[in-house]
Amino acid sequence: MLLGVNIDHIAVLREARKINDPDPLDAISLVKRAGAHQITIHLREDRRHINDDDARKIIENSALPVNMECSINSEIIEKVIALHPHRITLVPEKREEVTTEGGLDVIKNFQSIKAISDELQKQQIELSLFIDPDPKVVQATHELNAQWIELHTGLYANVYAMLSSNLSRSSHSIKALELDRNSLHVKLQNALEALRQSAKKAHFLGLKVAAGHGLNYQNVKEIKSIEEIIELNIGQSIIARSVFTGLENAIKEMMEVLR
Ligand code: PXP
Repeated sequence: MLLGVNIDHIAVLREARKINDPDPLDAISLVKRAGAHQITIHLREDRRHINDDDARKIIENSALPVNMECSINSEIIEKVIALHPHRITLVPEKREEVTTEGGLDVIKNFQSIKAISDELQKQQIELSLFIDPDPKVVQATHELNAQWIELHTGLYANVYAMLSSNLSRSSHSIKALELDRNSLHVKLQNALEALRQSAKKAHFLGLKVAAGHGLNYQNVKEIKSIEEIIELNIGQSIIARSVFTGLENAIKEMMEVLR
C-alpha cells in the first residue's frame, strides 16, 4: 500500500499565527525518511493553508512525487499546471467548508474536466479525480481519461466515528443503544460495500485506485483490506499524532498499520 502524506495541516498551524513557523517545506525530507511514498498538498482558492510559494518550493525540492489537490476553477488550474506537479487531483471546493465535503460532481462538470484532462495529457501530468464511491461516477471518470480515482472515505469514517462514540455513550438505555448500534453497523457495511464495488469497477476499467479522507490509525484497517486500493492519502490523523510523537514516528506508525 502506498501512502501519501497530506501536509496541509502544518500550514494550518502556521496560519493560526500568520508567521513563518512551522514551514511545511521542512516536512518533505521527514516524510521521505519515514518511508512514505508521496507528498499531498491542497492549494485552496482561499489559500487558507498552503500558499503559492509553499507549493512552488515543495514541488521544486521534494524527492517524492507531489500530488496537488485543487478545484476545477480555471484560474487555480492554470497556476497548478504551471507548477508542474507529478499528479493533480481535482476536488470539489466550497469557501465555507471546514474540509473537502463530498466527491467531485464528475457528471455535471464533465465538459470542464475533459478540457483539464486534455491539457494535463499534453503536459504529462497525471490526473486523479476525488469522487464519491458510486459506480456511475467511476464510469464517467474512466471516460475522462483520468489515470487515477481517489475514493472519498469520509462517509465511512464518519459512521465509524459515530459507532465508536455510540459505544462509549452512557446516557442511552441499553435498548436504544442496541438499535443505534445496529443501524450504524448497517450504514458502516453499506459504506464499505460502496467503496469495494467502486474500487473493483475502477480497477476493471484500468484506473489506479487511491482513497482518502478521515482515515486514521484505527479505521484504516478495513480500507487496507480492499485489494484494488493501492494508495491512501492521509493528513489530519498523522499530523495530529505528530504533535506528540514527531512527524517521522507518526508516519512510521501509519506505515506499520498499513503493512
Ligand atoms: N484526500 C483528499 C482529496 C483530501 O481533500 C483530503 C483532505 O485535504 C485528504 C485526502 C486527507 O484527508 P484527512 O486530512 O482527513 O486525512
